[in-house]
Amino acid sequence: MYHIAILKGDGIGPEIVTAAMTVLDKAAKKFDFQLTYHEAAFGGAGYDKYGSPYPDETRQIVENCQAVLLGAVGGPQYDLLPREFRPESGLLAIRKELGLYCNIRSIKYYDFLANQVVWKEGFLNGVDIIIYRELTGGAYFGEKKRENDWAYDTIYYTKTEIERIVRQAFATASNRPRKLLHSIDKANVMESSRLWREVVENVAKDFPQVHVEHLYVDNAAMQLIVNPQQFDVIVTENMFGDILSDEAAALGGSLGMMASASLGGKISLYEPAHGSAPDIAGKDKANPIATILSAAMLLRFSFQEEAAAQAIEQAVTTILTEGYRTADIADDGMKSIGCMQMAQLIADRL
Ligand code: IPM
Ligand code: MG
Repeated sequence: MYHIAILKGDGIGPEIVTAAMTVLDKAAKKFDFQLTYHEAAFGGAGYDKYGSPYPDETRQIVENCQAVLLGAVGGPQYDLLPREFRPESGLLAIRKELGLYCNIRSIKYYDFLANQVVWKEGFLNGVDIIIYRELTGGAYFGEKKRENDWAYDTIYYTKTEIERIVRQAFATASNRPRKLLHSIDKANVMESSRLWREVVENVAKDFPQVHVEHLYVDNAAMQLIVNPQQFDVIVTENMFGDILSDEAAALGGSLGMMASASLGGKISLYEPAHGSAPDIAGKDKANPIATILSAAMLLRFSFQEEAAAQAIEQAVTTILTEGYRTADIADDGMKSIGCMQMAQLIADRL
């Protein structure tokens, strides 16, 4: 029996998570395992119900589960709250408390979504990138302060924090055909980046089979657009990873397609890389695929249900190949459907 904490959150969060649960339920039946869901309030919904984006009631539920499936947090009604009450603070708190330093986001180019990307035909063929984003350090968690006329955030990293994420990225790169790792920093300007680069060079000695390239983040941002095929595995600090992963999502056709896993502690967390899209919330318009693919990663990494994970990934490809599309990836002549129908069809193809 697998116990999963369900934190639907805000905006489109409830619909995309409900959609993913439909697929998970079908996978459980088909592959013969049992899932128990433990739903709890989180983000803006946590604030509304308990006055905190990560309420103690929710924390207790999470700590008694083996994995967390999260939707999205945030919305305009929370934008003016003090920092500790904002939905995003709940997200940072759960990542930090569970020790989820290793965030994995993967981008694959599907040729049947060619019309969704702004690149010339054929340009993205074979693009298959995994981003390792450090998730519990850097500017997100360093000392910060705001006064009337000034404000600062601090990017602080220890060698240990850098080394553990870099090792994970090397390990993954060494298991991929190209064995290529791009480490992205701003070592021409930032001390934390110079330390980062030093640690990467040191860890590289343990992975002689992996070819390492260092790129400055500004150049990396451009290279992702002009020559995305050169990338295999990318490793970078928290904020660079946040920015570059949204950019890289465009290569896959839509942010609505990018799943993510956050690992490193006892309990892992899985969430789509996109936000809560309040403008389309409750309209059954959201693309549930990023969440469904995150649920596949949950089965793979938290429960070693590799066959079920692969079956879900395959079903997503099948449905897209058959021409079904949510609004974000809609295209002339395709079968336009809503969030729940997309989930149902993917479940049916399992
Ligand atoms: C992400 C999101 C979050 C982040 C926000 C919602 C705090 O953009 O997961 O990429 O910046 O980490
Ligand atoms: Mg982001």
